[in-house]
Order: sequence, then C-alpha cells, then structure tokens
Amino acid sequence: MVSKPVTGPNPESHDDDLLRDHRELQRLFEQVEIAKTEWEQTMDCVPEMVILTNTSGSVQRCNKTFADYLQKNYYDIIGRNWTLLLCERGLPVNASHDSTRTIRENSSERWYEIKTHPYTTKGKNAASGHVTTITDITMQKKFSQQLEEKNHQIMENLRDLNDKNAELAEAYASLKKTQSQVLQQEKMASIGQLAAGVAHEINNPIGFITSNLNSLGKYLTRLSDFIQLQKKALASPGDPAILEEVRQKEKTMKMNFIMDDSMKIIEESLDGSDRVQKIVQSLKSFSRSDDGKRVPADINECLESAVNIVWNEIKYKAALKRELGILPQTLCYPNQLNQVFMNILINAVQAIKNQGTITVRTWHSDDSIRASISDTGCGMPPEVVARIFEPFFTTKEVGKGTGLGLSITYEVIKRHEGEIWVESTLGEGTTFNIRIPVIEAG
Ligand SMILES: Nc1ncnc2c1ncn2[C@@H]1O[C@H](COP(=O)(O)OP(=O)(O)O)[C@@H](O)[C@H]1O
Ligand SMILES: [Mg+2]
Repeated sequence: MVSKPVTGPNPESHDDDLLRDHRELQRLFEQVEIAKTEWEQTMDCVPEMVILTNTSGSVQRCNKTFADYLQKNYYDIIGRNWTLLLCERGLPVNASHDSTRTIRENSSERWYEIKTHPYTTKGKNAASGHVTTITDITMQKKFSQQLEEKNHQIMENLRDLNDKNAELAEAYASLKKTQSQVLQQEKMASIGQLAAGVAHEINNPIGFITSNLNSLGKYLTRLSDFIQLQKKALASPGDPAILEEVRQKEKTMKMNFIMDDSMKIIEESLDGSDRVQKIVQSLKSFSRSDDGKRVPADINECLESAVNIVWNEIKYKAALKRELGILPQTLCYPNQLNQVFMNILINAVQAIKNQGTITVRTWHSDDSIRASISDTGCGMPPEVVARIFEPFFTTKEVGKGTGLGLSITYEVIKRHEGEIWVESTLGEGTTFNIRIPVIEAG
C-alpha cells in the first residue's frame, strides 16, 4: 500500500524542551511510519483485494492487489467510487452492502466473491465507512461446478442403474419361470424318450401276470374236478374202485405239480405287480414338479426311482452294481434329484457301446450325502469335460441329445448348495460325483 509521507512538526524552535519533544515526536512518528508501512506491506501480500471506503463509497485506501486488478496507479484510485471503478474494469458490482455476493466478470469466465463489512471509527456509533474484500473464486467455482456436474452424472447413473436393476429383476423373474418350465419340459422329454422302455417294463410283467392268471384258471378247473371226485369218494367210504380212481386222477391230472406251480406263479405274479407298482410310482414322482418347497427325503429313494425309470435301457447294456449306504433324511427337492440321477444314468447308458457296468454308490460322510455314478463307457476328452455343464452342449446326434441334461443337473445340485464334479478317461469310463450337505428338518 502506498501513502503520502508523514511530515513531522516544525523543528525550528530553539527551545531545548521543544527540541526534546520534537525528537520524541519524531521518534514516535518514525515508529508509526514503520508500523504503517508494515501493515500496508502485509495488506499488499494478501491475494484478496482489500478496499477501505467512506460512507459514500469513495476509496480511502486499497491494497496492491486491488490496484493491480484495476491496472491503475494507487493515486488514481483514491477518492474514486469503488463500484464505478470495478464496473469500468468489467466487474458489474452495485453499491449494495449485502455482506456476501458472487459476481462474474463480463466477457470472461472469472468469478469473484465480494464481502462488505461496516467499518466504525473508535468512539463513533455509526459506520464511518466499509471494508470490502474481493476474492477471485474462479477455481472454487469451477471445482464446485465440476462437482455439481459429477453429482448430476452420478445421480443420472444411479437412476439408470435403478432402471437397469428393475429390468434385471424382471428378466430374472421371467428367467426363473422359464427355467422351471425348461426343467419340467426336459424331464418330460426324457421320460418321453424313455416311454417305449417304460411301457415295455410295464407290459412285460403284465404279460406274464396275464398268462399266469390263465394257467391258474386252468389249474383251478382241474382242481375243482378233482375235488368233485374226492367228494364222491367221501360219500362212499371204503369203495376200493373209487379210491383207485382218485389215485389215478391225482397222477394223470398232475395234482402235485399244479399245487407247486400255482405257488410259483402266484409268487412270480406278485413280483411282477410289485414291479409295475414301483414303475408307476416312479413315473408319478417324475411327472410332479417340486413346488418350491424342500421336503425331507431319503436320496437313495430318488436314485431307486431313477433306476426304475431307466431300467429298460440299462438292463440290455450294463450290469448294474448298487452299493447304497444308509443315508439320513435331508431337506431337498426329491423330484429334482430324481431327474439328476436319471440324466446321469441315461448318459452312462448312452456312453456304453456294447456291454459294460454301471456302478451307483451312496454314502454319508462329514454331514454330507455323497453319491457317485460310474460307467465303463467311452469316456470324454478334457475339452468335452470342460463343457459338459454348458446348456445345449451335446456331442450326440440330433434327436438323441438336447445338451440340457447336465446343465439342469448342475443347477439342481447348486440349488441344494452341493457340488458335482466329473472324472473321465477317454476309452475307459466316467464317474460323476455329487456332494449334498445334509439339512435336517427343523
Ligand atoms: N457318462 C458319460 N460318458 C461320456 N460322455 C458323457 C457322459 N455324460 C455326459 N457326457 C457328455 O456330455 C454331453 C452333455 O450331456 P447332457 O448335458 O446330458 O446332454 P445330452 O446327453 O443331451 O448330450 C454329452 O453330449 C456327452 O458328450
Ligand atoms: Mg444327457
């Protein structure tokens, strides 16, 4: 800050006291001068513009930053109205004394914050002027604008995300619906493929049960003839001719054979009807879809159901070895597990070209139910193993494979929080391993 030099009192007095006073005053003036210069230099170092105006707005003092901003000499500023000076420079300020204002410079992107404070001289009540500071806030403004833009962008992105989320939720819901439809369709398709075999499995016992019933019918006629003859013998006891006839008839009508054979064919027929009953039960459980609720079940039964359905395919191609351990009941989707075992068993059968062995094992270990299904079929190269759980991946000819069996299997095991993995050697065979944690019904 630049100011006019301060002139001391006239030292022309020859009086000693006066001279002393004069020196004292001189010293004081010098001190004041030093303090004033220090203060002015301090104000000149401040990056803000600082202006002291009187009540009518004329500049009384200002710092170097203000003079530099106006590109004017200090003395050309003093006494002039501060708002006019700023307007000339292109900063449209009015004389308002509102404490804080933000103003943009004409034809530039620079922003300034103007703060006006009333200035009161010691001993007076009314303001004797104002101190105004003007700060270049372009950087802060740009920064806050950028922040605002970023904020806006973030809000927009959030809205987008929200929309996408809603779309995703919708897509997920429809996917889930489709998935359960696909699950059911694939299951029905597999049963469709197996239908001939299943029908054969039912027809076969029904066939021999029918023929057995025919035989039993004939045996019964002969039996009743014989009973008639015995009645006749009982009516005339001691008649040797009738007794001889009974003995003869017993031989010619092969009564002993009829009795033995009747027992055998009844046993055989009961076995047959058991078998039919099992198949029908398995079919029933396959055609039901689990309605989203886990129920306690013995996984061995799921495996047995699947074997029943696929039996006709297995029996001509493979010896089936069952090594089923005792398993605890677990909360699960039994019909979906039926399908898992059916898918793996059908694949095993299809992998065996001529004759082979399929081994099914189950055991309980470490709070998990473990199952493995091995076949001595064609095996797989690593590049096939890597893809078997992909939906629609199949190496089978059109009409034989949909490529969905194992992807559904995988999903079902995941739904049970379990694991499925495969070991396969090309030309030797394949083992599917399953682990499902036991969940006790509670
Ligand atoms: N036990 C197995 N032995 C050999 N290859 C198998 C066996 N199980 C599955 N694969 C292979 O995995 C593929 C996918 O099986 P899957 O998903 O059941 O579909 P699909 O049986 O309809 O082809 C099969 O095409 C076959 O190449
Ligand atoms: Mg399959």
